[in-house]
Amino acid sequence: METSSQDKPMMTGDRTIPPEGARYITIHIMGQAYEIPETLTILKALEFAGFQYKRGCGCRGGICGACGTFYRKEGDHTLHTGLACQTVAEDGMILAQLPFFPANRADHAGVDKDLSPDEQINTLYPEIFRCVGCGTCTRTCPMDIDVMGYIAHFKRGDVARGAETSFDCIMCGLCVSRCPANISQMNVAMVGRRIFAGQMTPRSEATKSRADQVREGRYEPALAELAQMSKEELKALYVGREREPDLSKPGEWMPADTTNL
Ligand code: SF4
Ligand code: SF4
Ligand code: FES
Repeated sequence: METSSQDKPMMTGDRTIPPEGARYITIHIMGQAYEIPETLTILKALEFAGFQYKRGCGCRGGICGACGTFYRKEGDHTLHTGLACQTVAEDGMILAQLPFFPANRADHAGVDKDLSPDEQINTLYPEIFRCVGCGTCTRTCPMDIDVMGYIAHFKRGDVARGAETSFDCIMCGLCVSRCPANISQMNVAMVGRRIFAGQMTPRSEATKSRADQVREGRYEPALAELAQMSKEELKALYVGREREPDLSKPGEWMPADTTNL
């Protein structure tokens, strides 16, 4: 059954108002055809068609990874992937959402910290050695990350390169859903970055000293003062705050009031 959405009211606060004379295209959502104005992202097309996002989505800006989507195009055998908030809907698109995909997440906290960084990763995720090098994960990634590459870095024990290569991962789970070796690439990468940051990079003295100040209660009086303020007072404080210039170079700018530094 074909459903026309042209006369439907908009369903969310992020409204889509098609311009007069907008051309309509047909897309298929979960097997059902809908007419939507062209140029919408898949996310907005879903909303135009009457779907509502109640939970689990998201930033709408390509950051949170909650809107992974599979789609095919008519006459094209390829299974495509993308982020619904970043991919423009095309006529004849047949799509399904991937709101969540079960991924193996090992007990990161329980790993023996006396092991070397690469041994920790191998202990947590020995399945990385089952990678067959098919490259499906890399072709699937909507962030254009060399997923197969970072898995290969971790396999070789190059935790630093694995962490760096996977840095832009937004945990959408699309790569995990397609791996023939059942590897949860995103979780391997996450623990790799944590191990790299926590165990392989020098401690920042500035960060440590600030953390100590927070623990010692230096900011408690200021926080208590804020907690007493009315909404209007907080708004006025926010609007009148001293702001760092957008283009200042590191070390060039300091606020006039250094009380809380
Ligand atoms: S999809 Fe799985 S098996 Fe294929 S390259 Fe990626 S990690 Fe390896
Ligand atoms: S590496 Fe996997 S989980 Fe991370 S953004 Fe790419 S497809 Fe999504
Ligand atoms: S809604 Fe967050 S990445 Fe699409």
